[in-house]
Amino acid sequence: MSEWFTKWFDTTYYHTLYKNRNETEANAFIDKLLTYLQPNADASFCDLACGKGRHAKRINESGYATVGLDLAANSIAEANLQASNNLQFYVHDMRQGFGVNRFNYITNLFTSFGYFNSLKENLKVLQHVHNALTTNGIFVIDFINVIPVIANFPIHEKKTIDGVQFNITKELINEHIVKRIEIIDGDAQHNYQERLQAITYEQLTTLLIQAGFTIDALFGNYELQPFNATQSPRVLIIAHKTATLANN
Ligand SMILES: C[S@@+](CC[C@H](N)C(=O)[O-])C[C@H]1O[C@@H](n2cnc3c(N)ncnc32)[C@H](O)[C@@H]1O
Repeated sequence: MSEWFTKWFDTTYYHTLYKNRNETEANAFIDKLLTYLQPNADASFCDLACGKGRHAKRINESGYATVGLDLAANSIAEANLQASNNLQFYVHDMRQGFGVNRFNYITNLFTSFGYFNSLKENLKVLQHVHNALTTNGIFVIDFINVIPVIANFPIHEKKTIDGVQFNITKELINEHIVKRIEIIDGDAQHNYQERLQAITYEQLTTLLIQAGFTIDALFGNYELQPFNATQSPRVLIIAHKTATLANN
């Protein structure tokens, strides 16, 4: 049986539900991020779990060679419609390594982390990121701020988008945020779920340090404003590769 993340993210319903997470949002955030990071003109980027490539495309438009990796074949096929010599997209499972000393910057954006059952499996992803970065390479991870999110659980909501009805339940089960999505599309009904390990900003910081990173900055939203543990919507960490660990 395939895992939830293999099924759900490759459906058109996923893209309908999150249609407000669009290129306009991605462009504004990437512009802000690049202004903060000030990469060298020849810097190389990888967007890990890039989806249809909305962030990767903007990074590339800003002048940087960029690779996008994602498990969802449909998303990569769509991203590839805009591929070029220095903007490339590949189907790749982040549970596998993706190179050694290969990129100056790696991004993992819009809650594309914490999908696996144990902290150990999620840590492994960070170790692959660490391996794929050049010495002193920079990692940018953008995760939900679990503390205010779970404070209001359980949540039930109904939305109709493009004629499709979404009945959504979110709750905390065994330290995982479980979002059940019932979809009514005409006569058809579908059920999917998202399952995210409820990793706090402190746990994420600890995992990054375990993987060999040094934390440079912590922001609380896409405007790169200061992080507030009980109020910020996002945990946005900028870290750099400091050590090559024996267990990587
Ligand atoms: C919440 S979406 C974000 C996509 C993109 N970063 C964006 O902001 O539009 C999470 C992405 O992670 C991808 N993903 C899920 N499991 C993965 C895995 N094991 N390896 C690589 N990508 C994965 C999904 O296919 C999906 O595109």
